[in-house]
Amino acid sequence: MYYSDEIIEEVRFKNDIVDVISGYVRLQKKGSSYFGLCPFHNEKSASFSVSRQKQMYYCFGCGAGGNVFTFLMEYEKMSFTEAVQALAERAGVELPKIDYSQEAKEKAGLKATLLEINKEAARYFYAQLKSRRGNHAYTYLTDRGLLEDTIKTFGLGYAGKSGDELYRYLRSRGYSQEHIRKAGLINTDEKHGIYDKFWNRVMFPIMDVNSRVIGFGGRVMGDAKPKYLNSPETVIFDKSRNLYGLHRARTTKKPFFLLCEGYMDVISLHQAGFTNAVASLGTALTAGHAGLIKRYVHEVYLTYDSDEAGTRAALRAVPILKEAGISTKVIRMEPYKDPDEFIKNLGAEEFENRIQAAKNGFLFGLEVLEKEYDLDSPEGKTSFLKEAARRLISFEEELERNNYIEAVASIYKVSTDSLKKLVAKMAVQDGLAAPAIRYKKTEGRTVKKEDGTLTSQKVLLTWLIDMPELFYQIKKYVAPSDFTEELYRTVAEILYEQLETGELSPAQILDHFTEEEEHREVASLFNTRIQKLSTEEEKERALEEVIIRVKNNSIDRRMQALNPADISGFQKLVEEKGKLQSPGTLHISF
Ligand code: UTP
Ligand code: MN
Repeated sequence: MYYSDEIIEEVRFKNDIVDVISGYVRLQKKGSSYFGLCPFHNEKSASFSVSRQKQMYYCFGCGAGGNVFTFLMEYEKMSFTEAVQALAERAGVELPKIDYSQEAKEKAGLKATLLEINKEAARYFYAQLKSRRGNHAYTYLTDRGLLEDTIKTFGLGYAGKSGDELYRYLRSRGYSQEHIRKAGLINTDEKHGIYDKFWNRVMFPIMDVNSRVIGFGGRVMGDAKPKYLNSPETVIFDKSRNLYGLHRARTTKKPFFLLCEGYMDVISLHQAGFTNAVASLGTALTAGHAGLIKRYVHEVYLTYDSDEAGTRAALRAVPILKEAGISTKVIRMEPYKDPDEFIKNLGAEEFENRIQAAKNGFLFGLEVLEKEYDLDSPEGKTSFLKEAARRLISFEEELERNNYIEAVASIYKVSTDSLKKLVAKMAVQDGLAAPAIRYKKTEGRTVKKEDGTLTSQKVLLTWLIDMPELFYQIKKYVAPSDFTEELYRTVAEILYEQLETGELSPAQILDHFTEEEEHREVASLFNTRIQKLSTEEEKERALEEVIIRVKNNSIDRRMQALNPADISGFQKLVEEKGKLQSPGTLHISF
């Protein structure tokens, strides 16, 4: 970690979690916690809780959870250090100069160096484009309708023909071969030695949301293959977490993004005044992209190519966006191939008309599906409607589902009632009649199913935090080493230490972990739902049961790990276990 524990603690202490999260989510007080709609998954009723007492948040729907740092890491996609810095600034805490560990220094240094190299390379490509040698490339771009201003804004460039000129240039600027390689700008093979990755191509620098160059796309000027060559993923270039054009689109006043497929599409759209256009980087849309988009807008207009591949890509994108809570519309480019060609031929005004005429993503899906059936025959229409009904099940919210049922019924000329019945029937057939609480995926992760012994360990940790006064009784029976899951054990060790000194601070425990995934898990440990128990007696019995389960499990584990020849060790464990079996052995009282 870059900062000392004390300073991290101070920053956290001065940023009350309820205040911070209130800046992002509307929270309402309910009992001792605050509740709101979870910003990490799509939901209609509030299962996102924030506790002032614990200084933590937790979503009972998707399992997202953590402290105030985690929140910024997840919501703003910051690193732990960035979150500390942002919150320090918010609370007016002056941070000391970063106390880098060697490894952290190297990592931070590497990233900074690669960013510098990319920036130098982009400058170099731009200079080449403007030089005489780049004349044909410049003409290529202007022939495609790009204005001088646009070329400059997007920093387009030209990679020359000589094979290793960029490499030599970067070396002359003092960058090592290793760093240039790590930036993905050179290749090596036995025959040619070291040579530039991009060769005789028009260059599209790819920028992150802060306008830093993180990679390149390079296009051939003729029909050679591949048409575009892209930088490989590097420590600064993650294709699934960046979008082309986002550094400009992020400031749009429009409430939606235009999501297209190509670099040229984005550039043409921006030039035509549609500055809310972005594109993925030659890959399919991912949940990571959707999460990124969700930070800026809640609606996306898909302007994918009008060919079959584009249609398929659009159909795949709709549910991914929906999962992130983004609604979609689909814009058709027919008779042209893509937004770039469309604008060139019909102009911005006509494009605006297409935006107005955009179709709802779900209905668009049905329209594509429709082509596989003969709607003029009764059988064809029935099978089509069955499939449509099956898809309608995916709207979990009744009101929304009914709205869609009505829309579909009216488009395909069947009665709303019979379609509703069909949807219900398909739901039963597919075994979804009474959807149990389904854990939603948030960016590709699912909440782990867990076995009973793990749950007991979690419940015990939650209990210790909610009722620290029980510590002295619990500790008589359970030691941190009794927690069999490594993460739980680490947490228990820190928690016991805190309770020992009377300084309980669950949120601080999180700071011992730097990965989002760990924050989430630890947060869930402190937020296990514990059945509401009314009488003292019930509580005592429940706690006793939990302690026994944790202890038993721990003994079992130790038995398994025992050397089979260790008879006395075995006997001791059997004895320990025996003690637990007789009821009332534990003297727990609330
Ligand atoms: P397209 O083939 O539709 O190209 O690929 P385009 O964007 O319309 O480009 P122009 O108008 O022909 O110049 C769409 C996107 O897919 C990625 C690129 O990101 C491109 O912008 N792609 C395409 C590649 O990465 N490699 C390729 O070989 C082709
Ligand atoms: Mn194109």
